[in-house]
Amino acid sequence: MKERWWKEAVVYQIYPRSFNDSNGDGIGDIPGIIAKVDYLDKLGVDVVWLNPVYESPNDDNGYDISDYKSIMDDFGTMADWEKLLEELHKRDIKLIMDLVVNHTSDEHSWFVESRSSKDNKYRDYYIWREGEEGKPPNNWESFFSGSAWQYDEKTEEYYLHLFAKKQPDLNWRNQEVRESIYEMMTWWLEKGIDGFRMDVINLISKAEGLPSSNDSDGLTGAEYFANGPKVHDYLQEMNQKVLSNYDIMTVGELPMVDPQTGIKYVAEERNELDSLFHFEHMGVDSGEYGKWCLNDFKLKDLKTIISKWQNQLHGKAWNSNYLSNHDQTRQVSRFGDDGKYRVESAKMLATFIHTLQGTPYIYQGEEIGMTNVPFNSIDEFDDVETINFYNQQQEAGAIEDMEEFMEILRTNSRDNARTPIQWDSSENAGFTTGEPWIKLNPNYKQINVAQALKDEDSIFYYYQKLIELRKKYPVFVYGDYQLLLEDDEQIYAYLREYQDQRLLIILNFFAKEPKFELPANINYESKQLLLSNYEVESNDLKEVNLRPYEARIYLLE
Ligand code: GLC
Ligand code: CA
Repeated sequence: MKERWWKEAVVYQIYPRSFNDSNGDGIGDIPGIIAKVDYLDKLGVDVVWLNPVYESPNDDNGYDISDYKSIMDDFGTMADWEKLLEELHKRDIKLIMDLVVNHTSDEHSWFVESRSSKDNKYRDYYIWREGEEGKPPNNWESFFSGSAWQYDEKTEEYYLHLFAKKQPDLNWRNQEVRESIYEMMTWWLEKGIDGFRMDVINLISKAEGLPSSNDSDGLTGAEYFANGPKVHDYLQEMNQKVLSNYDIMTVGELPMVDPQTGIKYVAEERNELDSLFHFEHMGVDSGEYGKWCLNDFKLKDLKTIISKWQNQLHGKAWNSNYLSNHDQTRQVSRFGDDGKYRVESAKMLATFIHTLQGTPYIYQGEEIGMTNVPFNSIDEFDDVETINFYNQQQEAGAIEDMEEFMEILRTNSRDNARTPIQWDSSENAGFTTGEPWIKLNPNYKQINVAQALKDEDSIFYYYQKLIELRKKYPVFVYGDYQLLLEDDEQIYAYLREYQDQRLLIILNFFAKEPKFELPANINYESKQLLLSNYEVESNDLKEVNLRPYEARIYLLE
């Protein structure tokens, strides 16, 4: 396995709108981030991934870009951004930018031109089709509810949008589109950034002829737009023309891949991307209606999915490990316990993410154990996905009990991860001196950064220790993965091995108190406890009575 800086790195994800507001307009901004780079440095992270900061009408909070080469006013100026890059680099922290090129905003000049007439030079930058008897050209569904086609009166045709209708899909079959994107990427790389997180990058190639789908499972049409026929040609071209010229990291966001499809994007010899985000483990608690209906998860299902990815990518490609981000609910609420065992379970989940093979990602606020939010009414939500879903259900007359429906949104909406970072217990959690753009989690008086920094047992310092261990012992990064106790329903345990180092990781995923027994065939001469979220008195590994959400990392020799 090749050694690479981005394999050894820990990435911290910043959602700028909610990170820190410097000028009292209630919206987080780049100067606000600059004011907190020492905080990131103290945590010990190596890379920052910045969610989109480009000019945007913010229909999908920056994922609808109207100008790739300028910074949105809400967030500051290009000079602010340059200063941020400089301040991060000064502290040896790298910066990766979000690359959103499956679609643009409908306010991007390319689309404004494109929609203006059928013979405009930019017409073919997007995907336009005639309707079929007053209906959309095919039956594909948008990720954000409803048809993926929008009728445009001006030229009496439909355009494709896999996301919101203000996010028209680019036509990657058009070589000029691709060249324009490569030029833009090079422009950012020349400014000195260290890589890209590529938004839904496996959706860029749509099947020839855009056929209607007969498959009613999941999102209609996905078999024709996810992992499409030319996606690997495009990524190899992008790699050859742009990426291979720089020592950078790339991570592709790849919905709807299993390890065999996923590996094609990231296998070392294929020269496409460096690493990937898959979503298989994010489906572990999906119910009958997908993400809007989450069930309790079974630990064995999680083990099966994670083990499959760990084993199949080993030696060939690189995982990215995460349990939350700006599109998911808070991990301690979803996979841990955000009540009595909030601190213990947050540390246990952190242990998990930082001891798997792959690059760990920390989503802002996770390092202080931020939780889901008690949203009370539909007006408190901002997210286009949530609101579209609500409108669609409302129009279909599907909402019988509003309280029940609110509970669904409250547990599953992406806005759970988008409330402001809780810096201290002062008014508005120290996030802003103005009116925050979205409600704050009312628990900020107890859960905040200032409190975490004062308490040496805090979740924050536990993350700091995990990051230090990763730097000290290469086995954390390069070790293989061997699952233990495959059938255990409470305990997730595994070994990692690299050269002459071996780690044993024991995680109790629930509040019960199961007994851990080391399988008899595992021999060692000495053992050292590297980290635990509890005081450990007896060090006997033959039989360990685990406490709620207990996590231990041992070095075996
Ligand atoms: C990705 C982003 C998400 C966005 C969508 C459309 O999934 O992470 O936030 O809404 O793509 O760009
Ligand atoms: Ca601001």
